[in-house]
Amino acid sequence: MNSESFQLIRVASGAQSLRSLRYNETFHPVVGPMIEARGLHVVQHHFSKRATQSIAKPFVIWDVGLGAAANAIAILEAFRNEDVQVPVELHSFDRDLEALYFALHHARELGYFTGWEELISEFLKNGVAQFKRVTWKMQSGDFRDRVLDLEIPSPQSVVFDPYSPTSNPELWTVETFSNLRKRVGTGSCLLTTYSRSTSVRTTFLFAGWYVGKGAATGEKQETSVISSDLSLLDRPLERSWLERVAKSGAPGPLTNGAGERGSAITVAEMLREHPQFKE
Ligand SMILES: C[S@@+](CC[C@H](N)C(=O)[O-])C[C@H]1O[C@@H](n2cnc3c(N)ncnc32)[C@H](O)[C@@H]1O
Repeated sequence: MNSESFQLIRVASGAQSLRSLRYNETFHPVVGPMIEARGLHVVQHHFSKRATQSIAKPFVIWDVGLGAAANAIAILEAFRNEDVQVPVELHSFDRDLEALYFALHHARELGYFTGWEELISEFLKNGVAQFKRVTWKMQSGDFRDRVLDLEIPSPQSVVFDPYSPTSNPELWTVETFSNLRKRVGTGSCLLTTYSRSTSVRTTFLFAGWYVGKGAATGEKQETSVISSDLSLLDRPLERSWLERVAKSGAPGPLTNGAGERGSAITVAEMLREHPQFKE
């Protein structure tokens, strides 16, 4: 099979990952697909504990940017190993399945599909597959539209993995994050993302989320954990972080339109009123 959009690339750990030729980005750089999926996403969501204690049933996870399904498989794997007795729904969002077909075609080189081939084939054929207590569903289309679809249950966990804000700007805006925040409402939701940039963090804050520091992965010494509930964050950003915002050359927030961009000092001043920082 020839793909114009992807190639396999060997990352520093020796694992193979996909590289998008269109966006010039590697899906899981340095450490490779499964180490990143487990360390950045699965571990930080504490799925077993949170699913078991959750008032919401089923426990709903959104996988934004299904891509080559490394995150989705790591999530399924977490529910194989753990003794969760509540029903779980995993909703994977992507505008197309090209990366997944490419990855399946290269399953042997990628390695992480081993043992999952049948389930993935069923998922591709039916748009849904069942693994233990997890119902895994495909949600096709642009995430900006799908986030508004009230037929998809609101999430308690979001694994947020589009391309970078430079390549994939439409998914990293106040508008998209606000729509996601509205879907969570008064519920408790945790979101993990590889970005730790000031502009992405201010964008989440302006959209009504709380922001914390996340685990290191690959070349990134820090990532971000976002929540609708401050008490869910192990390491929330402190008020002193606003000093960094005030000095930033790119303070955000990121928006759809050409829009007014506040000065860094103004952005920091506005964020002093956010409940995370208010004294
Ligand atoms: C870096 S890849 C995701 C890697 C994936 N999480 C994995 O584990 O293999 C980013 C994915 O986001 C998808 N994407 C980008 N923009 C999107 C949009 N507006 N709506 C839905 N999916 C989008 C791309 O098609 C691509 O598959």
